[in-house]
Amino acid sequence: MRATINPFFAERVAIPSTATPTKPRRDPTQWAKLPLAPVNGSPVPHLTSLYHSAEAGNYGSRSYPGNCGGNLIKDLIRFYGARSVFDPMTGSGTCRDVCKEIGVYCYSSDLHEGKDACEGQQFPRACFEFAWAHPPYWRQKLYTTDPRCLSRSPTLEDFLARYRLLIQNLAGAVVPGGKVAILMGDYSDREAGYVPLVYWTKHLAFQYGLRQCATDIIRFSHGASSSRKTYRSSFIPGLHDVCVIFERTDP
Ligand SMILES: C[S@@+](CC[C@H](N)C(=O)[O-])C[C@H]1O[C@@H](n2cnc3c(N)ncnc32)[C@H](O)[C@@H]1O
Repeated sequence: MRATINPFFAERVAIPSTATPTKPRRDPTQWAKLPLAPVNGSPVPHLTSLYHSAEAGNYGSRSYPGNCGGNLIKDLIRFYGARSVFDPMTGSGTCRDVCKEIGVYCYSSDLHEGKDACEGQQFPRACFEFAWAHPPYWRQKLYTTDPRCLSRSPTLEDFLARYRLLIQNLAGAVVPGGKVAILMGDYSDREAGYVPLVYWTKHLAFQYGLRQCATDIIRFSHGASSSRKTYRSSFIPGLHDVCVIFERTDP
């Protein structure tokens, strides 16, 4: 899917098709010209604010609902040089598999194994260098029947109250100076309207004293099941989610 990289020109990248439902679908590959990233001292030079890799990597299970590729996680761990990772919403184990491959310690759990990521006292405290969380985008996909599941929150207020606890748990698990990366996408439905969950992520994290320490990373949603659907309604399709990286700044 990717074009060869020419150092003198911006990279080209395949983006998901936005073909309208009234017209026959076009070739699903379109090419967008990306801005050239400046050369810098990053140990992971291809990690920029636009994460467009269509390769999921052999991590976790692609058939698990909401599965995310592992390469972004691997790039972040490498960028920050983290030697220990906290992953309390592991889903199919994508982050755990990445850590195994690169030889990094990973504490990994999920509600489907009985561990509620919103209850910080159940988890090790202040000892990890990096925390990764890919929570439900509220009720976009339902994960478990457990009422503690973030995807089962009946109202946005309920979701945000539990999301606040999750963020506190993530922040409490890392050492001072440790990083907390959260992958989140905005959500909408008829009843709730457009719900800017990326905004809420930052709002809750800032309230808790976390500091954003890098650019938003816009992750292209290659392979999203919604891309293959046809809708009668008219809207601007969202083709990305956002990874926000915070730092625990308290001593
Ligand atoms: C978007 S999925 C994560 C998918 C994962 N990144 C992967 O690649 O397989 C969200 C996960 O959060 C879990 N979850 C939801 N509420 C939870 C809670 N309160 N405590 C722990 N896990 C929870 C769900 O069971 C689900 O596995």
